[in-house]
Amino acid sequence: MRSKVVVGNWKLNGSLAGNEALLKALLREIPRDNPVACAVCVPSPYLAQARALLEGSGIAWGAQDLSRHDHGAYTGEVSGAMLVDLGCRYVIVGHSERRTLFGETDAIAAQKYVAARNAGLTPIYCVGETLEERERGQMQAVLARQVDALLAGYGATGLERGLVAYEPVWAIGTGKTATAAQADEAQAFIRARIGAKDAGVAERLPILYGGSVKAANAKELFAMPNVDGGLVGGASLVAEEFVGIWRAAGSR
Ligand code: PGA
Repeated sequence: MRSKVVVGNWKLNGSLAGNEALLKALLREIPRDNPVACAVCVPSPYLAQARALLEGSGIAWGAQDLSRHDHGAYTGEVSGAMLVDLGCRYVIVGHSERRTLFGETDAIAAQKYVAARNAGLTPIYCVGETLEERERGQMQAVLARQVDALLAGYGATGLERGLVAYEPVWAIGTGKTATAAQADEAQAFIRARIGAKDAGVAERLPILYGGSVKAANAKELFAMPNVDGGLVGGASLVAEEFVGIWRAAGSR
């Protein structure tokens, strides 16, 4: 059985004081030893704060992006090795906001995935179709293209210690969650696509769902056979919500 993972994506939100209150509230509820992995992906300037507060706890931390380059003249970039230096376990790669707002292509996202793996991080590779693509009947074609970019970059074995997150763009930050059946259908497709290359890797790979996950809908989503946890945006900023989502992952 695959392990469950619940990851918060804080996006461009936070302050030293607010983060401290939020993380301390999470620490009160999430024990050190638990079967459902829990992590927060915070803005990079707050990684040292996350480490100071979370080290030795049951909550891991990570970043929301990384450079595809290791070092050199790349102003503004943050490398995988730097994230490892700050104790990160996870890094989100290819989030749809990076793809649509910052021009990240499938090829760039795949390169970032490889950079993260090479640095020893666990990348969370995000895929998902827009509403227009879904309505045109292109969901599977889009997911196939995004997954294939990754398989081309590293092969199926590259997914051995990574995670995939299915995040339909129309569900992100909109309050419009995919139904449990829609999430499972897309995630079964992703798993089968990877399984065609390596059935064992596909079977072991945790695939998270993201897009307006809340405490109220998490249990139903996480009960689906291909939904192995969640990547949570807005609701990860509210301790009670995020803890509720994390708890829902332990109740299958
Ligand atoms: P949301 O964001 O939970 O606010 O919809 C999810 C994400 O973008 O990862």
